[in-house]
Amino acid sequence: MKKSVRTLHIVAASIAAGIGFGAQAADQVNIICSVQAEWCNMIGSVYGRTTGTKVNISMKGSGEALAQIIAEKENPKTDVWFGGTGDPHLQAAEQGLTIEYKSPSLAQLHPWAQQQAQQAGYKTVGIYSGPLGFGYNTELLAKKKLPVPKSWADLLKPEYKGDIQVANPASSGTAYTMVATLVQLMGEEKAFDYLKALHRNVGQYTRSGTGPIKAVARGETAVSISFVHDAPGEKLAGFPVATSTPSEGTGAEIGSMSIIKGARNLAAAKKFYEWALTPAAQEMAAAAKQFQLPSNKNAKVDPNVPDFKSIKFINYDYAKYGASAERKRLIAKWEKEVNSLPR
Ligand code: G6P
Repeated sequence: MKKSVRTLHIVAASIAAGIGFGAQAADQVNIICSVQAEWCNMIGSVYGRTTGTKVNISMKGSGEALAQIIAEKENPKTDVWFGGTGDPHLQAAEQGLTIEYKSPSLAQLHPWAQQQAQQAGYKTVGIYSGPLGFGYNTELLAKKKLPVPKSWADLLKPEYKGDIQVANPASSGTAYTMVATLVQLMGEEKAFDYLKALHRNVGQYTRSGTGPIKAVARGETAVSISFVHDAPGEKLAGFPVATSTPSEGTGAEIGSMSIIKGARNLAAAKKFYEWALTPAAQEMAAAAKQFQLPSNKNAKVDPNVPDFKSIKFINYDYAKYGASAERKRLIAKWEKEVNSLPR
């Protein structure tokens, strides 16, 4: 509480100081934002007000953001790509779509965030992390007499037929994290057998990674495969949502940020990037009811952030599953062998 009052003071002081910038030509920064709208809007308005920068935000899921950046390659309209799962940021780095930039704040970041930067030749950086798990509607489960899912194996039980939602891995980084996690956990052949069996229970594949947890919150489906940190916001909004993580083990995302090669507003992009790595900026996630683990070690960790120590994780190979060829291959294989099957 104290901290948020202090943050407000800082924001207010900066806004007051910002008046002085009014006379100068305003900076502009064009951001593709791959986190939830509440957080995108908050960073856009706070950063804009405190620095006098004109912030243009376009919201896109991780896979769709990458597709747009590839499409704009010859004539980039984006300066910074903020958030979304790390794998497509690594793919963008490999394809030379983002630039090398070593922030002076790197040492303040958790090792996993620094590692994300190192393995991309500093063409991206980790800004948050979060575990993959299951969301469920407690009231709907009780009403339908369905058990709480506790393992990947549980999701194949016939009683969940039509009552599970997950996103499409081509558009959603959340769903790609699931595919890559299962491949690492079970081996590719068994993972695809699993995905085919799961397909029979999936009622709908959504475009966005957060579609399924929102459907759970509204009671449209009983279970979702989601990032665990996407649930507390729904619960705080009054919905009967709870989460579990699979007993066999699960993966985590390293939400990332990259500066686009050929950015028209490069200086403004770097300025925003530096700001986004500060504890105060990262604490804005929780203020917008987004509960990923911040990458800056000095950022306050909200009590709603999942407790990583209580979760069984696989040793996710970010470099391998963020490589262009591997990501493209697995998504194409999922489309051909899983999504095309009747349900
Ligand atoms: C949500 C989560 C983020 C995640 C993002 C991925 O916004 O809160 O942690 O990075 O989804 O979105 P996508 O639509 O690509 O799965």
